[in-house]
Amino acid sequence: MWFPNLSWIVLSCTLFSLFQDPAFAIKKSYVVYLGSHAHEPDVSTADLDRVTETHHEFLGSFLGSTDKARDSIFYSYKRHINGFAAILEDEEAAQISKHPNVVSVFLNQGRKLHTTHSWDFMLLEKNGIVHHNSVWKKARFGEDTIIGNLDTGVWPESESFSDQGFGPVPSRWKGMCDNDTTAGVPCNRKLIGARYFYRGYEAYAKKMNFSHNSARDYDGHGTHTLSTAAGNFVPGASVFGSGNGTAKGGSPMARVASYKVCWPPINGSECFDADILEAFDIAIHDGVDILSVSLGGDPSDYFDDGLSIGAFHAVKHGIVVVCSAGNSGPTPGTVSNVSPWMITVGASTLDREFQAFVELRNGQRFKGTSLSKPLPDSKFYPLITGEQAKAANASAAEAFLCKEGTLDPEKVKGKILACLRGDTARVDKGRQAALAGAVGMILCNDKASGNEIIADPHLLPASQITYEDGDVVIAYINCTDDPLGFITIPTAKLGTKPAPFMAAFSSQGPNTITPEILKPDITAPGVNIIAAYSEAISPTGLTFDDRRIPFNTDSGTSMSCPHVAGVAGLLKTLYPDWSPSAIRSAITTTARTRDNTVKPMRNASLIEATPFNYGGGHIRPNRAMDPGLVYDLTTNDYLDFLCSIGYNQTMIKSFSEGPYECPSSANIMDFNYPSITVPKLSGSVTVTRKLKNVGSPGTYAARVREPLGISVSVEPNMLTYEKIGEEKSFKVTLKAKWPCAAKNYTFGGLTWTDGKHYVRSPIVVAAAAS
Ligand SMILES: *[C@@H]1O[C@H](CO)[C@@H](O)[C@H](O)[C@H]1NC(C)=O
Ligand SMILES: *[C@@H]1O[C@H](CO)[C@@H](O)[C@H](O)[C@H]1NC(C)=O
Ligand SMILES: *[C@@H]1O[C@H](CO)[C@@H](O)[C@H](O)[C@H]1NC(C)=O
Ligand SMILES: *[C@@H]1O[C@H](CO)[C@@H](O)[C@H](O)[C@H]1NC(C)=O
Ligand SMILES: *[C@@H]1O[C@H](CO)[C@@H](O)[C@H](O)[C@H]1NC(C)=O
Ligand SMILES: *[C@@H]1O[C@H](CO)[C@@H](O)[C@H](O)[C@H]1NC(C)=O
Ligand SMILES: *[C@@H]1O[C@H](CO)[C@@H](O)[C@H](O)[C@H]1NC(C)=O
Ligand SMILES: *[C@@H]1O[C@H](CO)[C@@H](O)[C@H](O)[C@H]1NC(C)=O
Ligand SMILES: *[C@@H]1O[C@H](CO)[C@@H](O)[C@H](O)[C@H]1NC(C)=O
Repeated sequence: MWFPNLSWIVLSCTLFSLFQDPAFAIKKSYVVYLGSHAHEPDVSTADLDRVTETHHEFLGSFLGSTDKARDSIFYSYKRHINGFAAILEDEEAAQISKHPNVVSVFLNQGRKLHTTHSWDFMLLEKNGIVHHNSVWKKARFGEDTIIGNLDTGVWPESESFSDQGFGPVPSRWKGMCDNDTTAGVPCNRKLIGARYFYRGYEAYAKKMNFSHNSARDYDGHGTHTLSTAAGNFVPGASVFGSGNGTAKGGSPMARVASYKVCWPPINGSECFDADILEAFDIAIHDGVDILSVSLGGDPSDYFDDGLSIGAFHAVKHGIVVVCSAGNSGPTPGTVSNVSPWMITVGASTLDREFQAFVELRNGQRFKGTSLSKPLPDSKFYPLITGEQAKAANASAAEAFLCKEGTLDPEKVKGKILACLRGDTARVDKGRQAALAGAVGMILCNDKASGNEIIADPHLLPASQITYEDGDVVIAYINCTDDPLGFITIPTAKLGTKPAPFMAAFSSQGPNTITPEILKPDITAPGVNIIAAYSEAISPTGLTFDDRRIPFNTDSGTSMSCPHVAGVAGLLKTLYPDWSPSAIRSAITTTARTRDNTVKPMRNASLIEATPFNYGGGHIRPNRAMDPGLVYDLTTNDYLDFLCSIGYNQTMIKSFSEGPYECPSSANIMDFNYPSITVPKLSGSVTVTRKLKNVGSPGTYAARVREPLGISVSVEPNMLTYEKIGEEKSFKVTLKAKWPCAAKNYTFGGLTWTDGKHYVRSPIVVAAAAS
């Protein structure tokens, strides 16, 4: 009886949606991507205006008039990237996407900054990276290189961007400062560009806080990342007087340009696709050499993602694009920014700690980390857990996490409170403890964070301890009649072991978009990194914290990314002609996979990490200067890559600046990436790679470490180079040793060596399900 009615209901709904009043149709902001422009280098303003006109005409043909199109378009990408951003109805967007000239149409989506918490705080003696004077001298500290970032802007008064000692701005530079005034962001000979892009944010947020209409950094993140990549030497940099040392970026003599695309968070996103694309288009035009991008979203299709498209065009113009892998670890398959033209960076620890021991009355002592002030008196204080201190109306689990409104001040007053990490911000737990009257806090890691401990500028004396230690401390408090404890004064300690290990937050492979491409590519320091900061905000980011400091610490793949950008800057100074992929190859094939205990690098649970955590390994700038051989890639190789994953000629043509024929044999297995990943090995597979000599003439021999259950043969297994620039191909055949081998990923490696250089590539294999 119901069936006829049901079909009638469906029909009537369809009619309703067809005939509804267009005034009620919801408009959203979209990006319409049309591929590349093929302008002459000296393209005129009139030519660029003409491009905008064609965008108006094109959209006008869908909306009914050019005027409507003009109102709807808020960015016309006209220099290198071809496309526009516009306010459209879903139906209009769907129609436009069917047009043969359109590569893709996608929502102007929000992306996140890749910081765990922007108020994370700890101090280090020096700015993050491995230093080596001779190498820095050789690369002239990155002189002549221009490094840009896409971020929250810049604090121009920071000493890290002072132009003392810098010569004239390179004549090839075409960039500028949007608001070159003292109140805005004044350019100088070091900080040579500062622009801001907000229309995409505004289109999403509807309303913009216009007190923020400049490239000035009101957040701290952009100043931190830019100074990590290329901040000046700043001696006597300290945070609250501790950890006094010389702050510096990876390429301290490079010039810098800030492209502000991130604004106060709205629905959890700060940076929007439409702005990101415009920033890329302008940065390519301005003449940056390196772009450092510490933000991202969920992994998505290469041409439905502003960051991926922008990076593609930048790399096509010889710009190295370095991106953060994301902070969604330790879950597998979380890595973002997976485009093969990006350098994707995971995060790991340094060998520096700010140690503050947690001591119990029973004599037990646990090493924690802290940047907080010491306890008022040198005596034992009573201990209580958040669980025990729960307010009558709160749940034990929430109180254990020391969430707002869950603690009973009567119970907490005068005690050291033990809180569990997770769910809420670490500094907020400290704040709740302080509000409830605690004299101190022990922050115990949850299982997922393992051994990754971070020193924060808590509002009260505090120390953060590992998961295992936290278990013991909680058990002691729980099972002792009169539990007492103490937190020692925080003290800087260098050479801690093991280091590096992977940060728990660092996003991991496998790559969910193209599993044949290993991501991340590399890991670099991203835990407790000190760098310049905005003085518009407190180090904790808490509003009632009125402290302002020129240097701050922060953690995240946001922090590791600019380390790699800084090293890429040095390589660019040394080898101006190297392609972005040669630079990536040099960085990844010379990385190390062992820690300072000479054991394989571990994860935050101190279990052996894999290339899905660190790609090639931990960056070694000194070695990257002299890789011997590189796996190079041209723009055509990237086009072939796109052919091999199913993009057809029509689509390829739009971003290849002219006709491009997909080779009939385009095979992703032969894409010359500096790693080998076979996600579904069935029987055997042969992959081809090509190595270019960038060192001295010589003979290299192949050495293989076979993944468990997989046999690997290399043909030829010797490569002789007579001159620089010479390229030689070889084939690697992988075969399962037994029929049901390695259903899960297993890991090995291929190393080419002439006795001086070691050109290492990870091999990652999983057998196809039978
Ligand atoms: C320049 O920036 C300052 C500070 O944000 C702002 O008050 C001023 O309106 C800006 N000027 C222009 C022309 O955008
Ligand atoms: C933010 O998200 C909420 C809930 O999904 C939604 O109602 C709101 O419109 C969003 N805000 C904007 C500016 O899109
Ligand atoms: C705009 O930002 C400023 C600085 O953060 C803040 O004080 C002000 O309240 C904001 N205004 C609005 C309308 O959000
Ligand atoms: C940092 O060290 C320098 C040189 O060693 C010294 O002159 C300066 O006073 C120190 N600053 C602090 C805050 O300790
Ligand atoms: C418990 O009650 C207090 C005081 O009324 C309130 O501030 C707090 O938000 C409440 N907590 C919860 C978890 O409901
Ligand atoms: C602490 O003890 C209480 C009561 O004995 C128990 O319910 C709770 O699970 C214990 N908590 C921990 C973290 O061991
Ligand atoms: C470390 O690796 C082990 C084994 O893969 C995994 O179970 C664990 O969750 C990882 N821990 C972290 C913090 O990444
Ligand atoms: C290429 O792909 C697009 C989008 O999938 C499709 O519309 C078009 O017809 C294809 N062209 C050819 C020649 O196959
Ligand atoms: C693959 O890994 C999963 C999870 O790590 C494990 O449960 C499973 O037993 C493994 N399978 C094989 C064939 O090793």
